Amino acid sequence: MGNSCCCCGSSHSPPERLPSLKGTTNKISRYPTQNINSYPEIRKPTPLVPTPVVVKPPTKQLSQTPIKPRIVVALYSYDARDTQDLSFKKGDRMEVLNDSDPDWLFVEHLQTKLKGYIPGNFVAPELSVESEDWFFENISRKEAEKLLLGDETQPRGTFLIRPSEHNPNGYSLSVKDWEDHRGYHVKHYKIKPLDNGGFYISTNKTFDSLPELVLAYSKNAYGLCHVLSKPCRKPEPNLWDLAPTYRDRWEIPRDEIQLDRRLGRGNFGEVYYGKWRNQYEVAVKTLREGTMSTQAFLAEAAIMKKFRHKRLVALYGVCSEQEPIYIVQEYMSKGSLLDFLRKDEGKLLEFEDLIYIAFQVASGMEYLESKQLIHRDLAARNVLIGENNIAKICDFGLARVIEDNEYCPKQGSRFPVKWTAPEAIVYGKFSIKSDVWSYGILLMELFTYGQVPYPGMHGREVIELLEQGYRMPKPPSHSLPDEIYQIMLKCWDAIPEKRPTFEFLTHYFERFNITSEVPYREVPD
Ligand SMILES: Nc1ncnc2c1ncn2[C@@H]1O[C@H](COP(=O)(O)OP(=O)(O)OP(=O)(O)O)[C@@H](O)[C@H]1O
Ligand SMILES: [Mg+2]
Repeated sequence: MGNSCCCCGSSHSPPERLPSLKGTTNKISRYPTQNINSYPEIRKPTPLVPTPVVVKPPTKQLSQTPIKPRIVVALYSYDARDTQDLSFKKGDRMEVLNDSDPDWLFVEHLQTKLKGYIPGNFVAPELSVESEDWFFENISRKEAEKLLLGDETQPRGTFLIRPSEHNPNGYSLSVKDWEDHRGYHVKHYKIKPLDNGGFYISTNKTFDSLPELVLAYSKNAYGLCHVLSKPCRKPEPNLWDLAPTYRDRWEIPRDEIQLDRRLGRGNFGEVYYGKWRNQYEVAVKTLREGTMSTQAFLAEAAIMKKFRHKRLVALYGVCSEQEPIYIVQEYMSKGSLLDFLRKDEGKLLEFEDLIYIAFQVASGMEYLESKQLIHRDLAARNVLIGENNIAKICDFGLARVIEDNEYCPKQGSRFPVKWTAPEAIVYGKFSIKSDVWSYGILLMELFTYGQVPYPGMHGREVIELLEQGYRMPKPPSHSLPDEIYQIMLKCWDAIPEKRPTFEFLTHYFERFNITSEVPYREVPD
């Protein structure tokens, strides 16, 4: 099948997706010793040959010089899903035998002596700060507030410590507090580093380590809003693969997927709620025949599977050996952002929740920006919502492999004209900056609770007006702060280079101040 398509810029060898090492996760740097095969693997998709399901210890030789055994401790419990992985309970200790894939460490369980693979993000090095219940490695201020306030059963004084976003050696302490006139809210304190490796919040109390600091403030508030009462509950991390068997292979046998009920219908096929091996929830996107070349699609899937970020929907694998092709993805319980905003639950979202969603989408797009991957179809219908208003971007990279004429900018009835930047419609110039334009439209969908952009206007009319400088006006029906409308206008700048970066947009929405809370509280000496 031909690979050219006017909406995809004709070629499937993507120059805009050259790997960049920027944005490599902290998780990888936690296991720095042996041969971490992180990003460059993307360049060479593994052949789509079924791997036999046999537990075999990695063949790679460990270092010639003896290395200190590395013990990890489980932060969560895990039930083995397959023949290669190992079950464990929170608190269990394991020795790492091979960490060449940081997503799946090969370990020996110190109690049962069993060997197998475990998900790397379920454990942390023993005695490290990452192994503490109160330590949250990879979260922002806004996410900290969400976690502390989201669970009403957590008492006043519930806390967490996270690395400071601004000071590389410092940390932030976030504490849930209650006041008569404000109800529950979160107060943040800076934990500053000392030259000798210690820490302090106020200069008259210094500590050799974070655990010592936590212990002291758990007994006495010493000027904090409340004594530290209990660590915040940690949500379980994402599993990026259905099981270790699928970590470097994406063809899933079709008989392992059970389709239960239809969730929705998109431009290219239907989406089902289903189970993998009758047990684990998945969403299955079925692609109508002829929508795209199987080869082109598989090449894209191989790349998409390697894009991992907490704001992107995980792609588990595909069933591609017969039509219709299945794309097996992480299931998101609240469906698309667009449907969610229009339903009762979404209508009840407060301004603060909308800001949180805007932030999450920008943050997922910031990751794609750092990897130089263009989404091409960013819209509220392609953002999915889970519990606690978690938002994740889906269908990234898919638009480039679509071969359907209806999806072509100039003639296709299915082409999302109202979301697409003029230079992409007219010249097929898709870039991360055309994604920024789409993000501006998505913001309008968000702040109008799912209103169709340019209400009452036809796509063709929109293209013509945009070229004359027209932009979607501030909606009279919804209260939208002028500041945010100005951001939308910046996303719709006629000159792509003048549009903001997703990095900027993430920081903008992260710091958007809704509460009267000061950024950091001072503790009197
Ligand atoms: N991973 C998922 N988890 C839960 N629901 C999903 C998932 N993926 C899709 N859906 C549901 O299926 C519907 C259809 O999705 P689909 O991506 O096929 O179409 P669309 O986003 O409306 O349009 P497009 O074809 O442009 O992507 C979504 O609106 C959503 O309700
Ligand atoms: Mg979609």
